[in-house]
Amino acid sequence: MKEASEHDSWSVGQSYDHYMGRWSRLIAKEFLNWQNIPKYARWADIGCGTGALTRTILDHADPASVVGVDPSEGFIAHARKEIADERATFEIGDAQDIPVPDNTVDVAASALVLNFVPDKPRAIGEMQRITRPGGTVSFYVWDYPGGGMGFIDTFWKAAATLDPAARKLDEADRFPFCTPEGLERLCREANIQGVTVKALEVDTVFPDFEAFWHPFTLGAGPAPGYCMSLSTSNRERLRKRLEELLGGENEIRLTARAWAVSMTNI
Ligand SMILES: C[S@@+](CC[C@H](N)C(=O)[O-])C[C@H]1O[C@@H](n2cnc3c(N)ncnc32)[C@H](O)[C@@H]1O
Repeated sequence: MKEASEHDSWSVGQSYDHYMGRWSRLIAKEFLNWQNIPKYARWADIGCGTGALTRTILDHADPASVVGVDPSEGFIAHARKEIADERATFEIGDAQDIPVPDNTVDVAASALVLNFVPDKPRAIGEMQRITRPGGTVSFYVWDYPGGGMGFIDTFWKAAATLDPAARKLDEADRFPFCTPEGLERLCREANIQGVTVKALEVDTVFPDFEAFWHPFTLGAGPAPGYCMSLSTSNRERLRKRLEELLGGENEIRLTARAWAVSMTNI
């Protein structure tokens, strides 16, 4: 099992939005409903990417401010361009060394990021550092090991039938900690007690097979990165295999489940 992959490409905002951002915005809404944070809170969105969670916070949580942090210059440029709101600022930076002063936010949240961070306890410690005592530290990751990210799980299972090497690129294999037990274990490693873990779910609906397939050809993210690394003929074989599995014309409806963790900062 290997956490980092050469196919983890995060840079082109529009491609990411089409592949993942539109679903991460839906799950962000579920997350906010669950968190129910009072108005006028100061938020940090760690690993903000193109700003899916930041946008959702601005639209639905009435924040005083949101600072989004991500190492991808391309994503930060996209977020700055798309989110023109005086309450929002964006910084290039890493979850393991967050460029935000101590005790300056009420909520530090991180959406679908922790699995890509090499030192996860350190990232959680950084989120605690920037959050005031009594504030909230929370994060969520897709349920890769449980097959809860249906469209990605379907992609990798089909890819593995054609290319055994694809199996070790599957996020289910790379990120086994993305389960309730794994997340609780991670929190214990980070010396945190009393966390709450919750499943968040939305439907991912594709009107037909082409709508399902197209985002995999855009290159942003592990599965699209792998897809575009294939030769044209191998990519076509994979496309056909998936089409056989899912059907060509009918609507494709799959579940996207994330495990969310929340704790009060001490
Ligand atoms: C699946 S995307 C999630 C983006 C966004 N939070 C959302 O909900 O759509 C993963 C993000 O993690 C970011 N990332 C990867 N390694 C990181 C690190 N060490 N620190 C902070 N962010 C990181 C990537 O640049 C990318 O934007």
